[in-house]
Parts: sequence; structure tokens; C-alpha cells
Amino acid sequence: MVKIDLKNLKKRAEKDIKQVQNLKDLNKIFKQYLDKKGDLSEFLRSLKKMPKTKKVKLGKEANELKVYLKGIIDKKSKQIKEKAVKQSHEKEWIDITIPAKKPVSGHLHPLTQVKREIENIFELMGFSVVEGPEVESEWYNFDALNIPKDSPIRDLWDTFYLKNGLLLRTHTSPVQVRYMEKNNPPCRIVVPGRIFRHEATDANHEFNFYHLEGLMIDKQVSAANFKAVIEEFYRRFFKKPVKIRMRPSYFPFTEPSFEIDMTCTVCLGKGCSACGRTGWQEMMGAGMVHPNVLKSSGLNPKNWQGFAFGMGIDRLVMMKYKINDIRFLYKNDLRFLKQF
Ligand code: FA5
Repeated sequence: MVKIDLKNLKKRAEKDIKQVQNLKDLNKIFKQYLDKKGDLSEFLRSLKKMPKTKKVKLGKEANELKVYLKGIIDKKSKQIKEKAVKQSHEKEWIDITIPAKKPVSGHLHPLTQVKREIENIFELMGFSVVEGPEVESEWYNFDALNIPKDSPIRDLWDTFYLKNGLLLRTHTSPVQVRYMEKNNPPCRIVVPGRIFRHEATDANHEFNFYHLEGLMIDKQVSAANFKAVIEEFYRRFFKKPVKIRMRPSYFPFTEPSFEIDMTCTVCLGKGCSACGRTGWQEMMGAGMVHPNVLKSSGLNPKNWQGFAFGMGIDRLVMMKYKINDIRFLYKNDLRFLKQF
């Protein structure tokens, strides 16, 4: 009777263990059969009343069954764990070949992009890039450029004067003198830089903007050389022929002086707010370096001559990208800036 029970118990346990699907239920089965209060322990307890020989035999069989069941429960537990790991791997896999999300990064401001492009073109044409200070002395900004103190000509540039006697440079022309003082001619330089004017703003005027000064000094440099250099620059910059005009003008530091205009790319010459309704965009002032400027720089005007120009970088950005208001360049509006 007892023996049959043990056989049945083995069968029952084997069936239960085979069917179980998770560790929680497996634990229940362990308790049901192998715990102190489980079926096998109860069976062993029931042997007390039996004759000794039978007790020993059945006790041995019961203990063997205990070891056997423990073994298959451990095996099943291992299988359930392995299956769970496999399933989670199948569900939670990651594809390491998927390209990572790029971090959002900014890019150079269109003014900086164009500034670098201009520098590049002039470097390829044999010019060096030079810089000068934004806070300048009256001497370099005016006097050395043939604009004496108390001269009404100074009013051509509305100037921010500083309390310490210095000023915010109104153009990059002071760097002409600074460079010639320290470097022997011949020279070919361009000077990009930020400049400041106490001016009201409108579609093509800012009070803070960028100039690129150019200076070429040698024994024999003519206005024709200037025209050739500038035409070549425009050809390389716009990558197509653009219509420019050279008209007489006045600057105290050049004689003769000219101004260069180009057909407005925003309205194609019809006239719009970007070009003051003229169809032409004023791009740069220029001329042959005045003898007094050469003298201020320590050069003998009898031996040296050359041309200088100062172009508005902002205006070039406007013409390149057909921007109809210079103030967009300083608003920091990402909807605008992301287009470049
Ligand atoms: C000058 O400042 C001279 N220093 C240029 C020069 C250099 C002449 C060397 C001769 C020899 P002007 O003030 O015209 O020139 O400025 C030069 C260019 O800057 C203009 O042709 C125009 O393209 C640009 N510009 C002038 N004022 C503004 C402004 N308020 N906002 C944006 N661009 C301006």
C-alpha cells in the first residue's frame, strides 16, 4: 500500500514538474513534495509504525526519491531561468548597427562663412589676412588717415567716442597705417573686422557691421590694377559675372577716390528697400592711397604708391543670399540662421 503511494507520488511529482512554466509554481511544487510538511516527509513520518525491515527499505526508497526529485526540480529551475533570459534577449535586443542620433550642433553665422570665403579668395590672389583693434585711437582712425582734428570731414563717420579718449573704430582703414608702420612695402593685405557707427538703422544700414579693408602698395600700382583685382574678386565670389559700376567719390585718405556699386540681386536692378530703391547696392569705397597716409605710415610717397578699398561684408552677404534687410543678420532668429 505504502509502496504504491511512493510510486504514485513519484509519477505525480514528475508530471507536475514537467508541466510547470514558472519559478513561482515550481517553488509551490517543491513545497508540496519536499518541504518538512510536504508529501514525502509525511510519508517518512508514516513509516514509524511499520516493522523495521520494511521501514528501512521504504525509508531508503523515499530518500532516494527525495534526491531524485530535488535533482529534476533543480534542472527544471535552470531550464525556466534560461528560457526567461532567452526570451528577454529576443524581446529586448538592440541593433548596434543603427546609426546614432547626431547631437544637434550649430553652424557658422552667414557673416562668418562669407568672411572666410572672401579671405580665401584674396589669399589665393596673394593677399595676407591681417587684423587690428576694434577700440582705436583718434590718431589711427582719423589723423593718420588725413582727417585732422576739428575737420568737418570727421562728420562723415558718426563716431562712438569712449570716455578714456579712445573710440570704437568707424572703419578698418586705421589698420592700413598700423600695418605700413611695421612692415616694409611691397604689401598686399586684407583686413576683415567689426566696426561701429552711431547711425540709425534701416534695411541696408546697421550701427555695428563688418568691413574688409584691402591694401596693395608697390612701386607701380594703378587704379587699373584695383579694377582688375576687384572684378576678379567678384567673379570668384559670385561664380558668375556681375554688373558693377565704378563712380567717382571722396575719401580724405585716397586720391582719386571711387565707389563700387553692383546691381542689386534682391530686385535685379528694379529698385527695392534693400538698395534704397536705386537698383544699385553700394558695396565699397576705394581709391589710390593718399600721399599723406603714406607719410603718416613712414613711407616716402615718391617711392611708393598703391590702392586701398573698404567693402561692407554685410552687403556682400545680402547680395549673395538675396537678403532684403541687413538687420536679419543681427537678430539671432534661428528660423533665419538655419537657412545657411
Ligand atoms: C569707408 O568706411 C572707407 N573706410 C572705405 C575705404 C577704404 C575707402 C579704403 C577708400 C579706401 P564707407 O563709409 O563708404 O567707406 O563704407 C564702406 C562700405 O561699407 C560701404 O560701401 C557699404 O558697403 C558699407 N557700409 C557703410 N555704412 C554701412 C552701414 N551703416 N551698414 C552696413 N554697411 C555699411
